[in-house]
Amino acid sequence: MAIAALQKEFKSRYGIGEAPALFFAPGRVNIIGEHTDYNGGYVLPCALSFGTYLAVRPNGERRMRFATFNFSYAADVPFGDLAKKQGSEWVNYPLGVIDQFVKKGVELQGFDMLFSGDIPNGAGLSSSASIELVTAVALDEMLDSGIDRIELIKMGRAAENQFVGMNCGIMDQFAVGMGKASSAIFLNCRTLGYELVPVEMEGYSIVIMNTNKRRELADSKYNERVRECASALESLRSIRPLTDLSDMEIAEFLENEKVIADKTIRNRARHVISENRRVLDAVAAMKRGDLTTLGKLMNASHESLRTDYEVTGKELDTIVHEAWKVEGVVGARMTGAGFGGCAVAIVDDDSIDELIACVGPVYHATTGLSADFYVASVGNGAGRIG
Ligand code: GLA
Repeated sequence: MAIAALQKEFKSRYGIGEAPALFFAPGRVNIIGEHTDYNGGYVLPCALSFGTYLAVRPNGERRMRFATFNFSYAADVPFGDLAKKQGSEWVNYPLGVIDQFVKKGVELQGFDMLFSGDIPNGAGLSSSASIELVTAVALDEMLDSGIDRIELIKMGRAAENQFVGMNCGIMDQFAVGMGKASSAIFLNCRTLGYELVPVEMEGYSIVIMNTNKRRELADSKYNERVRECASALESLRSIRPLTDLSDMEIAEFLENEKVIADKTIRNRARHVISENRRVLDAVAAMKRGDLTTLGKLMNASHESLRTDYEVTGKELDTIVHEAWKVEGVVGARMTGAGFGGCAVAIVDDDSIDELIACVGPVYHATTGLSADFYVASVGNGAGRIG
């Protein structure tokens, strides 16, 4: 994103005057640990170098103005209307964050805001957490509210849960808020204890494969999975007290899984509990530089998400299964919520061109869609940039 273009558009939209302050928050890709976060489990995401930029300046009025380079919808909202949701428009993300500041008793000022994101929309790379965190970090600084980073991350999630209506876990906001260049974040989503794991792999890259299949109905299906996990937990509590699904190891689950009468619900729990173990094994493999094991765990994660959790679909399955056929692909799986969006692969640098040449045409022939491929650059978390 050219910062100069953001500043120029800011002036033409909101008038010349003091230069706006500039903030940035990244997107994220998750290496492994899918649909574990809202079950108190482990995840291993990293922040990306693309994300959302925000230019912001006080307007001296009791209103907030919102605009973005990404959509034509813009809004001019008096303070009295800030708590009103605006259909399914993108402004609900910043409005949801503002709502959290109000709930904390922070005194507002009016701001003019211009956003610009270079995360592909609907790709499952957390454009929503990115816009939430860029807003939260900017408001915190502009309002001098002194809220610490972890709390801002929780507020981003609360904005999405309470205002937008998506019952997401904490992974995305945490990765976007706490990311570090060249590192993945091994996060315990219950305690929020975390460890940075070096992600630079000599001769190998993280490649993101975008199916360009929009994640339609993803929010309602996502919330359905959250409810299914709650139901599974309820049944497993007949064995012993559990706080979250991730309190159970896979061996104990397999011995007792029949206490969950409904087969679908049982499958959901099996995914979560087995995935949690895969994250621990993946972190151990990464630390000892064992990419072969990491790759196998990623492949197993995809299959579990396909058969037990049922969040993949034809597009993600095609792109991942085709990627597996390429010799230099160490492992590949869907990433994020699923139902479309992106997959992530670890690929030998010498095989990236072959991956694109082999997977692209088969994917197009099977789905009618064109895939995009990006070599991920792992960047830092949200902050002020100007
Ligand atoms: C979405 C949610 C996250 C997480 C993933 C699945 O990205 O926002 O909280 O649940 O799906 O792992």
